[in-house]
Amino acid sequence: MRDVFGRWCCGVCLVLFLATPGLAADYVGSETCFTCHADQFNEWQASGHPWKLRKVEKARYSGLPLPPGYSWDDISYVIGGANKKARFINKKGYIITTAKDGSEAKTQYNLQDGSWSFYHKGEKKPYKCGPCHMTAYEKEGNQGGMPGMIGTWVEDGIGCEECHGPGSDHVKKPSKKTVKVDRSVEACGKCHQRGGMGDQPPAKGGFIRHHEQINELRAGVHGAISCLACHNPHQRAILAKDTCKDCHEGLYKKLTGNIHGASGLSCKDCHMPKATKSAIKVSATEGDVRTHLFKINTDPAASMFATKESKGKKSTYAKGFVTLDFACLNCHKSRDLQWAAKYAKDFHQ
Ligand code: HEC
Ligand code: HEC
Ligand code: HEC
Ligand code: HEC
Ligand code: HEC
Ligand code: HEC
Ligand code: HEC
Ligand code: HEC
Repeated sequence: MRDVFGRWCCGVCLVLFLATPGLAADYVGSETCFTCHADQFNEWQASGHPWKLRKVEKARYSGLPLPPGYSWDDISYVIGGANKKARFINKKGYIITTAKDGSEAKTQYNLQDGSWSFYHKGEKKPYKCGPCHMTAYEKEGNQGGMPGMIGTWVEDGIGCEECHGPGSDHVKKPSKKTVKVDRSVEACGKCHQRGGMGDQPPAKGGFIRHHEQINELRAGVHGAISCLACHNPHQRAILAKDTCKDCHEGLYKKLTGNIHGASGLSCKDCHMPKATKSAIKVSATEGDVRTHLFKINTDPAASMFATKESKGKKSTYAKGFVTLDFACLNCHKSRDLQWAAKYAKDFHQ
């Protein structure tokens, strides 16, 4: 798919090639897109996408602390470290799971509270995290010749061309016709998923697991709408449309008139509680990632999770709604479920 045709093809191929834009083009790198799309580039720079995987040359100025005994000269790459947590890769391409001297140590740094967690304690852990953290991932080979790096890619992190396809064609002949734009929910869901794009979000330890936005969406009430209904794909999550008034205008107006609205709450405070966990949990009902289930179950006896068995293996998943302990009691800490249920029922009536 990459490269090839453009270089040696005859006129016939060229016609074919122009008829199927993107197919035969080369990757040119996100920097190249900056010249003509500075706005998208700058927004994207501030989002998590490009920071997902960073070479040490860039990451060493990030101010992140390192696992015990390590200096930046022992590191090849940093994974994440933009939002919730950072993990570190050594010079051979393996994710660091011990202190430098091989002794037991916590090696995942959590940004929100500055704590450290164990990550596959003591295991030899190759960086086998493609295709979700990089651009144009291929399974074969080892990036930079490092044995622990499984696969190769053209750009670290999620560059413009991961979503828009190889850009050499478009750069030569800039127009809407020479570049791909995929607005489907699956285009985002191919990375924002766990165990496929199904509607049973895997859960663990009382929380939904992270990077499951499409699974959550499909389990909840917005299964038919796309990520783009609320997100500009170039922007940070905090800039998502959270008034919801494009589709729920009446409720938006109502909220602005009541006690919660007057206290500065928005829809996400109740409908998207942090029922999902990436790096840390703040309490038994507060993780660190907002869920996309949206539905609130007002039954005080309801449980968010269920267990299923497949091929003799039991697993837990989230049922498709959040319960009142997640939706109300993280703020109303001195209250209980019965109290919350009384007020939650017919909440917007
Ligand atoms: C030399 C200038 C130039 C460069 C470099 C360039 N583009 Fe464009 N791009 C354009 C023009 C012109 C358009 C058409 C705008 C229009 O018709 O409204 C466009 C449109 C687009 C669109 C919108 C397509 C649509 O259907 O709305 C996307 C996406 C895009 N470019 C992505 C990229 C990416 C990714 C790169 C880097 C690989 C890139 N561009 C580099 C000039 C450029
Ligand atoms: C995570 C996937 C993703 C990445 C990364 C990404 N884009 Fe886009 N881009 C999209 C989607 C999806 C749309 C269509 C948005 C819509 O219609 O709401 C889009 C739209 C555009 C447009 C049309 C105008 C607009 O803003 O809607 C341009 C131009 C563009 N992208 C350029 C870029 C450039 C340049 C980069 C890198 C700096 C980039 N994109 C990175 C997914 C992405
Ligand atoms: C190639 C994999 C991949 C694709 C495709 C992808 N994402 Fe992401 N996305 C990620 C990863 C990995 C992160 C985490 C980045 C970080 O926090 O360092 C992320 C982070 C995000 C965030 C949080 C950003 C922030 O600043 O907090 C949003 C919002 C998001 N993605 C939306 C989308 C949307 C919308 C699409 C589809 C247009 C999309 N993503 C496509 C992998 C992907
Ligand atoms: C199916 C795609 C996928 C795979 C495979 C995957 N991740 Fe991620 N990862 C994501 C997405 C999407 C996010 C951000 C959204 C979220 O956390 O809900 C993320 C977030 C992260 C973050 C937090 C980034 C930040 O700035 O806070 C780290 C660290 C991370 N992943 C490490 C890993 C490691 C290490 C592996 C391999 C062992 C891996 N991931 C495999 C998709 C994936
Ligand atoms: C109905 C609107 C809506 C839809 C649809 C939606 N999101 Fe979101 N998303 C939001 C809002 C609102 C936030 C919260 C932003 C904040 O924290 O202020 C958010 C947050 C996120 C975050 C960051 C979560 C965190 O707390 O770290 C990611 C990643 C994300 N969305 C990805 C996606 C992806 C991928 C899809 C599609 C599969 C999607 N979203 C669909 C509204 C939506
Ligand atoms: C693109 C349109 C659209 C946007 C944007 C949107 N919604 Fe919805 N929402 C819907 C539709 C349509 C339904 C009805 C789904 C059904 O009944 O199957 C719905 C249903 C709901 C429900 C569930 C009602 C029930 O049955 O209990 C909640 C809660 C909800 N939305 C909250 C939100 C919040 C919060 C936001 C903003 C973060 C939001 N919605 C943004 C279209 C939208
Ligand atoms: C203080 C918490 C809270 C806030 C803030 C909040 N909601 Fe709700 N919402 C609830 C509860 C609780 C229910 C469940 C009511 C029931 O099932 O009887 C609900 C139900 C809904 C429903 C389905 C039932 C209905 O009345 O249509 C929708 C749609 C909805 N909310 C959308 C929104 C939107 C949009 C916003 C922001 C404008 C918002 N909510 C803000 C707590 C809240
Ligand atoms: C993000 C924090 C937050 C969340 C989540 C939240 N509230 Fe509130 N709530 C407030 C604030 C702030 C007030 C303003 C009065 C105060 O300071 O107690 C308030 C006031 C109230 C009041 C009136 C005052 C009282 O204490 O009797 C009720 C009833 C109430 N909330 C119920 C709920 C229910 C039910 C939910 C869940 C569906 C919920 N709240 C979710 C922050 C929150």
